[in-house]
Amino acid sequence: MQSAPPLVPDAQGAPAAGPVQAPPEGLVQRLRRFIPYVQHVRRYWVVVVVATVVGATTEPAVPALMKPLLDHGFSASAFNPWLVPAALMLLFAIRGMAGFIADIALAKIANEAMFTLRRALFGRLLDARLDLFRSESASSLSNSIVHEIQNAIIMLVNALTGLVKDSLAMVGLLAYLMYINWRLTLIVGFLAPAVAWIMRTASRRLHRLAKSSQAATVELAYAVEENVLANRMVRLHGAERAQATRIEVLNLALRRLAMKSSVAQAAITPLMHMIAAAALSLVIVIALLQADRGMTVGTFASFVTALLMLIAPVKRLSQATSPMTRALAVLERSFDLVEHTPAEQGGNHDPGRARGHIAFRDVTVRYPGGSGNALERFSLEIEPGETVALVGPSGSGKTTLVNLLPRFLEPVSGAVVLDGQDVRAWSLPALRRQFAMVSQEVVMFNDSLANNVALGAEIDRERVLRALEAANLSDMVATLPQGIDTWVGHNATALSGGQRQRLAIARALYKDAPVLILDEATSALDNESERLVQDALRRLMAGRTSLVIAHRLSTIEHADRVAVLDRGSLLELGTHAELIARGGLYARLHALSRSGGPGL
Ligand SMILES: Nc1ncnc2c1ncn2[C@@H]1O[C@H](COP(=O)(O)OP(=O)(O)OP(=O)(O)O)[C@@H](O)[C@H]1O
Ligand SMILES: [Mg+2]
Repeated sequence: MQSAPPLVPDAQGAPAAGPVQAPPEGLVQRLRRFIPYVQHVRRYWVVVVVATVVGATTEPAVPALMKPLLDHGFSASAFNPWLVPAALMLLFAIRGMAGFIADIALAKIANEAMFTLRRALFGRLLDARLDLFRSESASSLSNSIVHEIQNAIIMLVNALTGLVKDSLAMVGLLAYLMYINWRLTLIVGFLAPAVAWIMRTASRRLHRLAKSSQAATVELAYAVEENVLANRMVRLHGAERAQATRIEVLNLALRRLAMKSSVAQAAITPLMHMIAAAALSLVIVIALLQADRGMTVGTFASFVTALLMLIAPVKRLSQATSPMTRALAVLERSFDLVEHTPAEQGGNHDPGRARGHIAFRDVTVRYPGGSGNALERFSLEIEPGETVALVGPSGSGKTTLVNLLPRFLEPVSGAVVLDGQDVRAWSLPALRRQFAMVSQEVVMFNDSLANNVALGAEIDRERVLRALEAANLSDMVATLPQGIDTWVGHNATALSGGQRQRLAIARALYKDAPVLILDEATSALDNESERLVQDALRRLMAGRTSLVIAHRLSTIEHADRVAVLDRGSLLELGTHAELIARGGLYARLHALSRSGGPGL
């Protein structure tokens, strides 16, 4: 992972955290953010421009052909009757070819942009500061990377193709109009501000609506995701109606926003047609008034044809803004995610394998939005090879403490030190190589058993088998038709809770890291399996620094020392015997668990 290719085009120079900037106003400025993702296919832009220019120049040629046809074709016999049709065929052949080439080149650009942006987004997902996952839901992130950019880029590129083609056609036709009668063209040109006003107003409104409906879509996806995850609980608790109402509200909002933007969009066409009709009326009146002053039928017909041909591109241009603004609204979210999400920052310290000396020095941790500190000026030193048990009531900060080691969390103050170096000075990949962790929530990939055990490392089948055996999973593996090549399925839900936990233990065993962190690693096991797994874990802990969190005190009796946490502070520290002798919280809880009462 650390040697991945540069994933984010301009991530290095990207501003740190900071507030997300308001989207810049102008369309061109907003399109600019797109450039880094398509810069490397510059050649194709050239092709697009050349092909489009060629296509556009054929546009005024059609009305230009009308002029000789009407002025001479129907009167003088000297005019070759094949000339105009032949020219027309040639013209459309050129135009078709140019259009084809431009479309292909644009498709190339679109797909490149999609590829690059998706890579950048996923790259950011891999190296983002972990706050990202606290502020963004899984559905919104996966929706961005999987669907949104695909739809948006296709929409954007189609709109852009149209925009370029139609603007050039418009320029070509206008130039021709100016050429045959510039005064008349200028008079018609007075209607241009009206067109511009309609386009701008509509585009602003559509952009606003697109932003809102995007936010509503993300929220809807999130609500659906939660309902999929919690489907059993929703039914068991009869929460269907409440959930249906929740979706209904979002669904209604989306319907309302979609209708609003349809209305805004539908209003454009009749308005544009009115302007076109006004332009045409003006031309007819003036042309008729000027008829005796040298305006031929050919000129008039040619002018009107060019003017009528102008309507289509102008109309399409006015409508191109809607998909474009919608697409941009979506893409801007992705750009923000890539450019404004700060990456994790590590140091350079990389001494290879750590000895495993750990020190927490006056560490205070506070979760954003949490009430009070999860850890309060916590200090603890752990020698290399030592096994320390962390015990304490639920919510006392045990998981928080171990999450500090691989820097899944940052302390507000104080320092976490591994082998004499602040963990912030360690290179992140080097730091994370030092820890094997079985965490409270086990997460598995939809991959083979072997890949889940090796996770990211080379697969050594022998070692995978040994790790599975040590985790007391060999019996289960023996019943699988494909052995360790069996796919475990979506988050390994086909396995029992205990099997999943043993798989996580096998993963930790396989990693063979100098520091072992076990957070309730055997809580889902029955006594018999626990005893078997404990043996393997005990063998594994030999020679490694180990932090073991367990509510069942039987699990931690072999620890060198026990640290008792209470509300984020270290309450007691000593060997099992010492703490029993002291007669404090640990001794009381131990007595309770002995007498069959609840553990810690
Ligand atoms: N993501 C979070 N956001 C806000 N507060 C949190 C978060 N995670 C934990 N906390 C709070 O921090 C405190 C310590 O939590 P922690 O998970 O470390 O407890 P624990 O000792 O591991 O408990 P348990 O034995 O139940 O696993 C708790 O009060 C909890 O509410
Ligand atoms: Mg915990």
